[in-house]
Amino acid sequence: MILGIETSCDETAAALITHDGEIVSNVVASQADLHAKYGGVVPEVASRRHLDLMVPVLEEALVAEPEAIAVTSRPGLIGALLVGVSAAKALAWARRLPLIPVNHLHGHVASLYLRPLDLQPPFTCLLASGGHTMLLDVRDRSGYTVLGTTLDDAAGEAFDKGARLLGLGYPGGREIDALARQGDPSAYDFPIARVPGLDFSFSGLKTALLYTVRELSASELEARRADLAASYQRAIVRALVERLETAGGDRIAVVGGVAANSELRAALPEAALAPLDLCTDNAAMIASAGRYADPVPYPDYLSLDARATA
Ligand SMILES: Nc1ncnc2c1ncn2[C@@H]1O[C@H](COP(=O)(O)OP(=O)(O)OP(=O)(O)O)[C@@H](O)[C@H]1O
Ligand SMILES: [Mg+2]
Repeated sequence: MILGIETSCDETAAALITHDGEIVSNVVASQADLHAKYGGVVPEVASRRHLDLMVPVLEEALVAEPEAIAVTSRPGLIGALLVGVSAAKALAWARRLPLIPVNHLHGHVASLYLRPLDLQPPFTCLLASGGHTMLLDVRDRSGYTVLGTTLDDAAGEAFDKGARLLGLGYPGGREIDALARQGDPSAYDFPIARVPGLDFSFSGLKTALLYTVRELSASELEARRADLAASYQRAIVRALVERLETAGGDRIAVVGGVAANSELRAALPEAALAPLDLCTDNAAMIASAGRYADPVPYPDYLSLDARATA
């Protein structure tokens, strides 16, 4: 059994998986409601809430004795990461267990390695989340090579900022996804950035939405909100799908919070998609990555640090 712990942003999560990737428990306490009134995650507030939630979440997830503990050590909000890393160190040290520091992005990719999906590399992976948008060449389960990344906003960030411009709640991806179903995706012709190579750019799209919304009166915005959401979502999904097509490759996979988007999932019927409940942050994916990362033996990890960057 591997215990996974995840606190890099605004989810406090712990999960147990078996050595062959079966999920035994998977507990996620989202702080989204807490941050909603600020329209985004407030780092200091997130750290404090992680402190409140860490022990109850661990108690619920620890339904059996782990043999190793995997924890997100990078990248993320530094104060938030430190709560998970400290909890992991304390638990591992008290039980004389090895500790496995995990890169959160490797964790998102490893959501594909859990059963029943149990995806085998090689594949080309789109990682689209709140903080990252990357194309990855995955040759084995221990890592990946970055083929392309966003030059400005991440796809999830584009959803969140777009939702805010439309007066929808936080986090915005799910709200836009739901509202877009009632709108016409061809109502507005939003730009799709085509930057050289395999990189992404979403800041122009966000600005285009801003200018469009500015021109509308409050009642016009109300009347066109679903059309705006549908057209905006269409532009993000097109940009992601086009890049995947350019990258080519025999097999395609999609992970990260934006992989939960219904239009993106429908646009990629052949792709391996992270299961819906494993798209946004969770600790099962961190434990899964822990199967393929290097464990640090007891007690060497006591000096292990968290890092804000990958
Ligand atoms: N159905 C959906 N459609 C589009 N976007 C979605 C959907 N559900 C969630 N998202 C987006 O996913 C993002 C959250 O994903 P995730 O939890 O993987 O990101 P993060 O952990 O904050 O960032 P990172 O993994 O880059 O550190 C948010 O930006 C949210 O709006
Ligand atoms: Mg994430």
